[in-house]
Amino acid sequence: MAFPDVRPRRLRRTPALRRLVAETDLAPRQLVLPIFVREGAGEPVAISSMPGVVQHTRETLKKTAAEAVAAGLGGVMLFGIPEHKDALGSGAVDPAGILNLAITDVVAEVGDQLTVMSDLCLDEFTDHGHCGVLDSDGRVDNDRTLEAYDAMALAQAAAGVDLVSPSGMMDGQVASIRHALDAEEHTGVGILAYSAKYASAFYGPFREAVDSSLSGDRRTYQQDPGNRIEGVREAKIDVAEGADIVMVKPALGYLDVLSAVRQAVDVPVAAYNVSGEYAMVEAAAERGWIDREPAILETLTSIRRAGADIVLTYWALEAAALLQR
Ligand code: PBG
Repeated sequence: MAFPDVRPRRLRRTPALRRLVAETDLAPRQLVLPIFVREGAGEPVAISSMPGVVQHTRETLKKTAAEAVAAGLGGVMLFGIPEHKDALGSGAVDPAGILNLAITDVVAEVGDQLTVMSDLCLDEFTDHGHCGVLDSDGRVDNDRTLEAYDAMALAQAAAGVDLVSPSGMMDGQVASIRHALDAEEHTGVGILAYSAKYASAFYGPFREAVDSSLSGDRRTYQQDPGNRIEGVREAKIDVAEGADIVMVKPALGYLDVLSAVRQAVDVPVAAYNVSGEYAMVEAAAERGWIDREPAILETLTSIRRAGADIVLTYWALEAAALLQR
């Protein structure tokens, strides 16, 4: 019997050899923790569809931000859950709105030690739950929504955010926000654009996390899950409009899009390991069907391997601790 003279297993023989030839790094600095902050909450509120994740109070938010610094995370992504919603999502623009207060709180707590990012979208603030304002026929009005996004960007910049993160998939949102920020001399505030964001069932648990009011779907603005070329196009458009970082979302079902986007642009690329991806692993682990910690690290490593420079994940703090071991 002829033996193979090509033996890739040689480089897998010891942990030291495997470490030497590892192609993909996973480090805390590459991880971003999404954080939910609930207006008026006296205590953290559990999210049943996302075991281990809570809606924070302003106090526990600050504590979590300090933990993120200690863990060496790359940053935090803030989401606000207001007590009152209206058709225009006015809470998003109000300097005393929960998200803007959360930004102020976190910046006061961590200063420049952590990159502070904020979701820039109306869906948490509108009573109809859409990412934009509606016209008289009930359709999302792209260009009127841009005006709201501009105002929201300015409120977030005034609160001290490092990166605003438009996630509403309106056409022209990056250019519009960039222009608004620059006109008010916020040239140092960056834009992390949710560029290729798909209309995904994997956002399900998030909708509970933010008490979403949405009925129906977002298919007139978020992308069709089957479209890769369009995802790359969206990312290129956003770079041309001034995005500093582009994002693909969700991550796991879209690793091919992530890889294609990484090759197509010359800015950092982020991926969002979304709520449904988190919940699937947690649920399987709870039943003893999957080995939780290796599954978490494999998930994040795979997203990195596909091309993400930055990974948003609800496991950020825990993964950082696992990587420290
Ligand atoms: C919109 C937004 C969503 C998520 C992040 N930003 C929900 C949506 O588009 O319906 C989903 C995040 C997740 O599922 O973890 N502001």
